[in-house]
Amino acid sequence: MERRFACTTEELENGSTMTLEFDEPIALYRTEDGELFATQDSCSHEQWSLGEDSEVEGSEVVCPLHMARFDLKTGKALCFPATVALTTYAVEVDEDGKVYVLA
Ligand code: FES
Repeated sequence: MERRFACTTEELENGSTMTLEFDEPIALYRTEDGELFATQDSCSHEQWSLGEDSEVEGSEVVCPLHMARFDLKTGKALCFPATVALTTYAVEVDEDGKVYVLA
C-alpha cells in the first residue's frame, strides 16, 4: 500500500467527486460536510465511473445509471441492483490541505 497524492482540498469542493487515474482508477468524494472518502472508481453493478458522475448524499453515493446506493464509509451496497460492496481506501489530509489516498 502506498500513500498517493490525490489533490488539494481546494480542488475538490464539498459535495463533489473526482476520478484519480492511478493503476486502478479510484473515486474520491467530498461530502457536503467536507468529509473525504475513496472507493474503487467503477460501480460494482456495471461499468460506470462514480468519480466522473455520481451523487453524494450524506455519507452515501448514488450511481446515476441504475440508482444503486453505497455507504462511503464501508463500501457496502445498500440497495439493488448492486449487491457487491465497493472497495474502500483510507484518505488523509495533511496540514497544508494536501489529500492523500492509501492505495
Ligand atoms: S452501473 Fe451503477 S447501478 Fe448499474
